Amino acid sequence: MIQLLDKKTKKTGRVYDRIAPVYDKFEAFIERKLFKNLRQKSLENLKGQLLEIGVGTGKNLQYYTTEAKVIAIDISPKMLERAKNKAKKLGKDIEFHLMDAQELKFKDNSFDFVIGTFVLCSIPNPIKALKEVQRVLKKGGKAIFLEHVLSKNKLIALLEHLHNPITSGLFGFNVNRNTRKNILNAGINIVSDEELAFFDVFRKFTCTKGG
Ligand SMILES: C[S@@+](CC[C@H](N)C(=O)[O-])C[C@H]1O[C@@H](n2cnc3c(N)ncnc32)[C@H](O)[C@@H]1O
Repeated sequence: MIQLLDKKTKKTGRVYDRIAPVYDKFEAFIERKLFKNLRQKSLENLKGQLLEIGVGTGKNLQYYTTEAKVIAIDISPKMLERAKNKAKKLGKDIEFHLMDAQELKFKDNSFDFVIGTFVLCSIPNPIKALKEVQRVLKKGGKAIFLEHVLSKNKLIALLEHLHNPITSGLFGFNVNRNTRKNILNAGINIVSDEELAFFDVFRKFTCTKGG
């Protein structure tokens, strides 16, 4: 068992434990139409020590090659269990830990890559987790985040704010986070910030360790 930090983090873990059995089915359509392609393009060909935070049911695992030594963490035992099963089926040698991204148990400058996909929306204190990413990322390493964020378009942003109590209450994720600002506030450099889909909502951030 891990020592969870606070009530919100415990609650997030419980929400994901509850939805773990239906998570892949629930996301099947958008996964097929959008996420699959984004994951593949962003994650293939990564080499070296790689940490994935909030691995969920392990949707990214198929894209990592044997040139990456992958460690994956999540706060939800039930999501992690599914990721482990996926790795086994894929024949992938991946190390899994039940761990809070807001308090990583790794040494400073340990990873060539840190990956987070659709996770900064669900971690209760994303800046705390991003500061941990900044700490464990090697100089010269890269952090890659695929995220849905708060739109700059006022109408879309309003819809996101209105939807947020539903998505956060039922499914544990927020649709109205200013993730770009959070990354910068954690001291991480953003090398590129790309629009991927749904106007400016789905984005890919490629980042390096801040000074
Ligand atoms: C929306 S799911 C995304 C899962 C996966 N990354 C994907 O792309 O399908 C968010 C995941 O982040 C995990 N998570 C939330 N807060 C966390 C934390 N503080 N530390 C580690 N994992 C966390 C949840 O348990 C859940 O599995």
